[in-house]
Amino acid sequence: MKKYITTPIYYTNGAPHIGHAYTTILADVFKKFEQMKGNEVFFSTGTDEHGQKNQHSCEASGLPIDTFLAQQSQLFKDLFDRMELNYDHFIRTSCDDHKKVVRRVLQDLYDRGLIIKKSYEGLYCEGCEQFKKKTDLDENGLCPDHKKAPKVVSEENYFFRLEPHRQWLKDYIISHPDWITPANYAKEVLGMLEEPLDDLCISRPKNRVWLGIELPFDSDFVTYIWFDALINYISILKWGENADFNSYWQNSYHLLAKDILKPHCVYWPIMLKAIGIDPVKHCVVHGYWIGEGGVKMSKSLGNVVDPNEVIDLMGVEPLRFYLINNMGVTSDSPISIGLLKQGYKQLANSLGNLQMRVLKMVDKNLAGQIPADVSLTADDEALLQKIASDFTSIYKKDIALETAIELANKVMESSNALNTYFANNEPWVLVKVPAQMERFKQVVYTTLDALRLIAIALYPLMPKASESILQSMAVNQKPTAQFVAKQLSSGQITVPQPLFPFLG
Ligand code: MSP
Repeated sequence: MKKYITTPIYYTNGAPHIGHAYTTILADVFKKFEQMKGNEVFFSTGTDEHGQKNQHSCEASGLPIDTFLAQQSQLFKDLFDRMELNYDHFIRTSCDDHKKVVRRVLQDLYDRGLIIKKSYEGLYCEGCEQFKKKTDLDENGLCPDHKKAPKVVSEENYFFRLEPHRQWLKDYIISHPDWITPANYAKEVLGMLEEPLDDLCISRPKNRVWLGIELPFDSDFVTYIWFDALINYISILKWGENADFNSYWQNSYHLLAKDILKPHCVYWPIMLKAIGIDPVKHCVVHGYWIGEGGVKMSKSLGNVVDPNEVIDLMGVEPLRFYLINNMGVTSDSPISIGLLKQGYKQLANSLGNLQMRVLKMVDKNLAGQIPADVSLTADDEALLQKIASDFTSIYKKDIALETAIELANKVMESSNALNTYFANNEPWVLVKVPAQMERFKQVVYTTLDALRLIAIALYPLMPKASESILQSMAVNQKPTAQFVAKQLSSGQITVPQPLFPFLG
């Protein structure tokens, strides 16, 4: 089956931080997870290069616009490449292919009378690039995400009507309970649909915003950034020109944080409906990484954790694992260098420790030979079957935040359980008693085979660690979503360098 996984396209007004890294890592984890099940995945990410926010940053930089955008977009690409994120397409909305699709959609809606011109006055938050209602603001009249008062903007603009589709969208959400996951966000969107929807202002006059895609029917205006940006999800797939469009779109997943729920779950399905495309199959929503000050980490607030600094400290994979393992399903989650170091230590003490202690035991006492000829006790078998069936059931699940978190949590839980099993059985005592040699081999084989199952499951989260653990047990096949106990055959182990060395 073909699947299409997207991340938001990121604004180029600053350098990428952990929040941007997170959603893109999540997409990469899901890509690998689905590939292990035999699915063909197309994963897209990129940069959102228009609008007032980017324009102001460009003006502040003093650089020509093309140079500024190329340089800023490259920061994201460099980070994602450094993190070895295996995206299939990196879109820049300043590219011609994207602009062409945006213009086609606009012209089509305009020709059908679905876009109208009128005067408007509203409260505009530049951080969100959105008009706000008074009810969207906090008790001090500030945008809750950007902690800034929106500006009163009054101008003539083009509008796209949302209200005629409100009931349809409500019904759609109710009849597709897994369209938006986790479910609390579906409830939040239903809440947004309780009141009549304002017309969506889809243009900006060039005298205020010059950085954007010119409207095909009025050269005094550029396209509203959200109307332009959302279309990236279909321009990437070359909508209208690609015979494969539907096979990807019918299994499509938008990953996003809750800050951009409304554009993705209200504006976008209605825009798609107007041009005759079904909604994306699933919206996978997550909360925020909270930086210092207890508020959402953001470039505008200056409380960001720099992913490059974390990678310099501990490498890419422990960062990946930490982010997936520690995001709350419905809550925001704190992050700092101190917390990342704690997470690293836990990984070293569980998985890292498990691998080293069992391999060293085999190396020292069995001349490095895996004791595959031993028959296991019923309890040992039950332990392996439990790990195999736990991972089998996780791998049957669909792409969802809960699935990724459950996978990482289960890797930790199984590693900890195995460490306990190993310690309780005291193989270092057994090995000294000739009559206990059979039991010694059973304990070692059970631990190794369980470690093999854990390493396979680990692949989407830490691909290199997974492969290195498997290779240390002479397992050289690429991991697939097959969790069958007692498949570890005889062979020679190697004791590698520790996966998670002491950080200092
Ligand atoms: N350009 C728009 C998205 C257009 S998509 C058609 C935008 N860009 S953004 O640069 O602000 O990125 C927002 C996204 O970055 C969030 O939805 C999330 O994926 C990620 N994150 C940014 N900060 C984050 C946190 N502090 N925590 C978690 N994710 C965060 O909105």
